[in-house]
Amino acid sequence: MERLPEDFIFGAATAAFQAEGAVNEDGRGKCYWDEYLHRAESTFNGDTASDFYHKYREDTALCREYGINGIRISIAWTRIIPDGSGKVNQKGIDFYNDMINACLEAGVEPYVTLHHFDTPLELFKNGDWLNRENTEHFVRFAKICFENFGDRVKKWITINEPWSVVAGQYIIGHFPPNIKYDVPKAVQAMHNMCTAHAKAVIEYKKMNLNGEIGIIHILESKYPISEKPEDIRAALLEDTLANKFMLDASLKGSYSESTMQIILEILEKYDAKLDINEDEPDILRKGAELNDFLGVNYYASHFLKGYEGETEIYHNGTGKKGTSIFRIKGVGERVKNPEIETTDWDWPIYPKGLYDMLVRIKNEYPDCQKLYVTENGMGYKDEFINGKIEDIPRIDYIKKHLAAINQAITAGVNVKGYFVWSLMDVLSWTNGFNKRYGLFYVDFQTQKRYPKKSAYWYKETAESKVIK
Ligand code: BG6
Repeated sequence: MERLPEDFIFGAATAAFQAEGAVNEDGRGKCYWDEYLHRAESTFNGDTASDFYHKYREDTALCREYGINGIRISIAWTRIIPDGSGKVNQKGIDFYNDMINACLEAGVEPYVTLHHFDTPLELFKNGDWLNRENTEHFVRFAKICFENFGDRVKKWITINEPWSVVAGQYIIGHFPPNIKYDVPKAVQAMHNMCTAHAKAVIEYKKMNLNGEIGIIHILESKYPISEKPEDIRAALLEDTLANKFMLDASLKGSYSESTMQIILEILEKYDAKLDINEDEPDILRKGAELNDFLGVNYYASHFLKGYEGETEIYHNGTGKKGTSIFRIKGVGERVKNPEIETTDWDWPIYPKGLYDMLVRIKNEYPDCQKLYVTENGMGYKDEFINGKIEDIPRIDYIKKHLAAINQAITAGVNVKGYFVWSLMDVLSWTNGFNKRYGLFYVDFQTQKRYPKKSAYWYKETAESKVIK
């Protein structure tokens, strides 16, 4: 029988833009997704999303009822500072005060993210994370949040998934500004985001608020598809680019020699360099020293093959199995491992990849004392039949990943909790409302919530701590 520790957090996650809706209420400014999802060809937008803005009391009550004792929420920068850098909007502060209080009253601890993909539009137009001025605006926003909510919020996350942001914005090109195949921009933006994270950590610790702060990375293990040296090399290159570069920056506080060597080799293929300011090594070092935990978001692992050609990517945003292409110049090609099942969006389902990643973090980054799995879940086209949603594949997915976490705990990794992505169905950035992840089904016409079979299963697991 597999039993998770008594104090293990059984959480569920949301993010402001994907859940809140109410985009024109109470003085909120626009983030870049507002503009992008209102272009003529867009088939969905985030105007109403899951209406969490009005339903957070109902949703936190559901958490309580279903044994969920941690909730990830994010604070929309544009509700607190509508243009990102100017005046503070008191109504935004009031809203999050109420939401945080509702969580606490329901006995659900809020884990609060400051940046979950939603840079304010003006700062986005100004270069987003490529412009170091925006880092300063982010730190100001972070400080305002610490000042206003830090008496009650004791778990802070600076930034959610730098790699997903930069890969979407500059490599895959399915996130605005829709730039494709520009690896150097992606690397530079990741470095700047890690610096922004470190600065926010330093500021938080100066305030003595007696809480914890960390960063979330998407960490997908990379395996060679064969023993061929070029495949082994491709796995190493993608791992360095997508995982190790930022783990080094945020947990070690410096890029190790081997990481930097590989990154520079990749950049050389694009005739580019990485720009590190004189004061930044010191900031990264201090940030890492003060960082309290790492959040690991894990959905899939990848299998790599050596690749010498130009970049070619096709993003499967429709759920038509077998359509993805992912080949990056100077890095490698992701290929299908015939032994591993995938979701309809071509994401390999591989819980061992999570186990391997957790154990690796413990071994390679021993200073990182505490981990949470801050997102994991299965995108699925749920069927709503007579008020019931029998999402058996999702239960199976979550069960296997929880078992992998338990094994990692047994192997000595300090994993303190798990957050299902997502609490209720939310907007999927590039797939709209068809790719559902929630424990609770949302009828997006009426905004009514229905517990899926997975919600009942999760409740039983959370209450017994037994994975079965
Ligand atoms: C994570 C993000 O990368 O993946 C979430 O933090 C996101 O915001 C989730 O929704 C699932 O991605 P997608 O594209 O399937 O919705």
